[in-house]
Amino acid sequence: MQKLTIGLRHDITSAIMMTMIPIRTTGFGSLYQGDCLQVMSQIEDGTVDLAFADPPFNLGKAYTSKINDSLASHEYVAWCKQWLDEMIRVLKPGGAMFVYNLPKWNLPLGAYVGEKLTFRHWITVDIKYSLPIKGRLYPAHYSLLYFIKGDRPAIFHPDRLPVPCCKHCGGELRDYGGYKDKMNPLGVSLTDVWSDIPPVRHAKYKKRDANGLSLKLMDRIVSMATDPGSLVLDPFGGSGTTYVAAELTGRRWIGSELDCSAILDRFDDLQGDREHLAEIQSNKNVLFTRDDLKRRRKAGKPLPAEYRIQSDLAPQCSCEPEELRQMGLSF
Ligand SMILES: C[S@@+](CC[C@H](N)C(=O)[O-])C[C@H]1O[C@@H](n2cnc3c(N)ncnc32)[C@H](O)[C@@H]1O
Repeated sequence: MQKLTIGLRHDITSAIMMTMIPIRTTGFGSLYQGDCLQVMSQIEDGTVDLAFADPPFNLGKAYTSKINDSLASHEYVAWCKQWLDEMIRVLKPGGAMFVYNLPKWNLPLGAYVGEKLTFRHWITVDIKYSLPIKGRLYPAHYSLLYFIKGDRPAIFHPDRLPVPCCKHCGGELRDYGGYKDKMNPLGVSLTDVWSDIPPVRHAKYKKRDANGLSLKLMDRIVSMATDPGSLVLDPFGGSGTTYVAAELTGRRWIGSELDCSAILDRFDDLQGDREHLAEIQSNKNVLFTRDDLKRRRKAGKPLPAEYRIQSDLAPQCSCEPEELRQMGLSF
């Protein structure tokens, strides 16, 4: 087969040579319809900044790609080790690898990867609407494993989050006591428990029945472990959420999926995702979201002056609403 280079905006052809033909190339990425092991075998060693995987969880689900999602446990783990090895091989020194799965699978998979990469975190991603299972504790989280190649991450800039507030009155859910003036105006530090990731339920954001992850989750991972121009790999495309997060933030990406139809549809019109991402990004790296500031104001609860927030909704202003309107600051 003729050796083709992948069509990316930035020239990475010296680093990566693909012999397969992408089903779609975009400004920043290339999507391959095929088995991820075959696709990854075409990527050169040490070229990827972020490798993320959200594989089938072996729960017997019916995928449009018709994969067997009910393997014997040992077969499933053996298969996972194959693609994990490929992801590890293509990762750059200092590159980051994230694996999203049930705790049951991330336990053996994490132990395996931990022999080759440096463990950073087991991140707990709170699932809001799971179902109780008889005779078991109610499962309420997925596991997100975070490893890096080598001793230190080449890139690490976690988002900061807004103070959690009441959805009705906008008041803080925690009392920060005398520390309000010490709080970073860009928000609170990200922990390893993520309870603010919404399920992908809204019809506007749900892309077919492709087990799509939340764009907020993927934006957080992509922004934490890459810079614009970095290269992101996700072998299990699904509805393409990783690729959308990468594309809209200027990261190069390589993707594979057995049935690319949902991703192709999604990339035909990214406007909804673009708007959704803008909203997600406006609500991070701030101490209070605009919505919470508005709720507070409506509820007659001005923000204590000690908080050092940079917002046109900061409460210290004593102008009349009409003056605010004229200044373009009303809400
Ligand atoms: C859980 S979904 C991924 C969802 C994705 N993270 C998203 O946000 O839309 C897993 C996907 O892996 C795909 N898949 C399974 N085995 C594969 C393989 N060997 N090569 C490529 N894709 C595969 C399935 O078709 C399925 O769409």
